[in-house]
Amino acid sequence: MQIPTPTPQAGLRALRALLRQRSPLAALESFHAELGDVFRPQLPSFSPVVLVGPEAGRFVLVSAREDFRWRVDNDPVTHLLRYGVLVVDGEQHDTLRRQMNPALHKRMLSGYVQAMLRATDQVCAAWQPGETRDMLVEMRKIALLIIMETLYQVDFTPQLRPLWHSVLRTIQYISPGLWLIWRGTPRPGYQRHLKQMDTYLYRIIRARRATLGATDDLLGALIDAGLDDGLIRDQLLTMLIAGHDTSTALLAWALHLLGQHPAALERARAEVRAVFGESLPDAARIAELRFMDNVLDETLRLYPPIHLSSRVAAADMQFNGYDIAAGARVLFSIYLTQRHPAYWPAAAAFVPERHAQKPAPYTFLPFGGGPRNCIGAAFAQVESKMVLARLLQRFELRAAPDQHVHAHMGATLEPRPGVRLRIIKRLPADSLTGQT
Ligand code: HEM
Repeated sequence: MQIPTPTPQAGLRALRALLRQRSPLAALESFHAELGDVFRPQLPSFSPVVLVGPEAGRFVLVSAREDFRWRVDNDPVTHLLRYGVLVVDGEQHDTLRRQMNPALHKRMLSGYVQAMLRATDQVCAAWQPGETRDMLVEMRKIALLIIMETLYQVDFTPQLRPLWHSVLRTIQYISPGLWLIWRGTPRPGYQRHLKQMDTYLYRIIRARRATLGATDDLLGALIDAGLDDGLIRDQLLTMLIAGHDTSTALLAWALHLLGQHPAALERARAEVRAVFGESLPDAARIAELRFMDNVLDETLRLYPPIHLSSRVAAADMQFNGYDIAAGARVLFSIYLTQRHPAYWPAAAAFVPERHAQKPAPYTFLPFGGGPRNCIGAAFAQVESKMVLARLLQRFELRAAPDQHVHAHMGATLEPRPGVRLRIIKRLPADSLTGQT
């Protein structure tokens, strides 16, 4: 069977939705509503097969995974990450993943909690009652400090300012853009920034090689495994980007949604104060923050930072009777699956309580699934909870008026133009630095 493609009228309706909501996701939603769970938008030289729903999730992530490739040689993400674990396949991928897993294993996480709290306190030490801050920026600072400290034992504070722009340009380099349509379009303006990131990463690797003694962080594990500097750089950059941009988006969206739902914000804050009072949050009792879990899950459902799984069909295949030819780009939409009206009543509404029940299999996949699910899922879950708990424990926050936030499709799904929150009050709390 042939995969449905949009009629010119459906294309026009999708374009209108895109312009109205300022997001290509609106166009995808419009196609999904008209064409169902399998469709193929037609753009000049880009016509991916889009699959939606739990059956498609199981197909792409588990049952047919061996028939897909992750690596697409001409994509910017491949140029950037070269042989990073995110963009290699087969044995090469499995070996890297085995080498990297221990540093992200659950048993390591309690050792990372102090660094997570320290980074949060460090960034929000500058927040003053009465001022308004963009949480997209603030959360990126926190997430960068955390990833560098936990996985590479490097204090990123001195680099926040000099490398900030390069980090953003690196992310922009791999974000969807016109290059999808006009393949081969040169991407000028990035080289200087990418080089700056490389120079920094190679410096860290050299510095670690020069120090004696084993460390069990990710950088130490890669050196111990005997990887050369180039391959280590690929993994460091992969984890730096994949490990901070996603958490930034999740935390910023969570704060946006809480800002828009003051009762939920109050309930989350009351829960944190009930569990931890004024003392530092700790890993042992974090499981007691059940409502916060629900808030984060609902945020991940509505705005999954990684909103699709992108693959290339390595062989001719069929999904539910539809023919997919070898070489086709296949996109499994996490976003549309998690808002599918057949599985999620009032799908567009923010209802944290719905996560008190386990979702149906393969309807909630913010961290992907199968053997190539997110390697940092457990890390990100502890991190987002720790950071959010600490912020709500220490501050009374309120959404700034007149915000029109839309979902921007960058390397992750980002709240643009940002999430402006007013700092209403600073509350007493034990501090890592001795100040409250
Ligand atoms: C809220 C936070 C995060 C979300 C929502 C998220 C989501 C995802 C998803 C959906 C995938 C699978 C993509 C696919 O099937 O195509 C993935 C893979 C991956 N994630 Fe995450 N991620 C998060 C945080 C992290 C963190 C903190 C790290 C690193 C410390 C990380 C590193 C990776 C890597 C390396 C892969 C590729 C794994 C492989 O191919 O074996 N992610 N992530």
